[in-house]
Amino acid sequence: NRKITIAIDGFSSTGKSTVAKQLAKELGYVYVDTGAMYRAVTLFAMRNSLISSQGVDEKGLIEKLPEVSLKFIFDEKRGFAAMYLNGEDVEDEIRQMEVSGNVSKVATISEVRQKLVSQQQLMGKERGIVMDGRDIATVVFPDAELKLFMTASPEERATRRFKELQSKGQEVSYEEVLKNVEDRDLMDTTREDSPLVMAEDSIEIDNSFLNPEEQYKIVLELAREMI
Ligand code: C5P
Repeated sequence: NRKITIAIDGFSSTGKSTVAKQLAKELGYVYVDTGAMYRAVTLFAMRNSLISSQGVDEKGLIEKLPEVSLKFIFDEKRGFAAMYLNGEDVEDEIRQMEVSGNVSKVATISEVRQKLVSQQQLMGKERGIVMDGRDIATVVFPDAELKLFMTASPEERATRRFKELQSKGQEVSYEEVLKNVEDRDLMDTTREDSPLVMAEDSIEIDNSFLNPEEQYKIVLELAREMI
């Protein structure tokens, strides 16, 4: 069995991370959620008052970037690696709506992207990795053996995300979640540096009408064919 690199890109809340986690577990691969890294940098910026109603203080954030250290540490209880920002477990905090509302702005900053992309490339250099994000097949691992691009309608994605946030006890409305999904789609697809686009050699999976088990079966089959 050879070890391959699996790149999973797509819009927000398409279930990328669920599939990626299952796949990594089944294959004994490392799973990396790159969205968590952009979220952690965003949380850092918020905590350092570098984000206000005026927007992101890009210069200030770029200056402070060397102070940002990101690590994934496996957590038995959760069953996956949690995001650590400067030694602190921020896995739950980075999923909050306030972070979701700011992250796509932070992700437009090239200096932020360069820092995170180099760390991601280091993590994947031995292969045997499943990485999900927006630019994995196009920028981080253009030579990945398996590239997947996941989509679903904005309404379907907002419904899933809304239910997830509700179950965690977060007070948000469906409209708010839908607006966040649509805003992020627009920002992610139109930014100058590494916009979200499907790579030419990616396989598109529209999961609007697939349940998680059906989707997982398809993806596992594709991975097995490559190994
Ligand atoms: O995957 P998730 O929805 O948690 O990602 C949060 C945000 O981080 C995305 O909306 C996008 O703006 C940014 N992101 C990115 N490149 C990646 C992963 C995430 O720009 N590889």
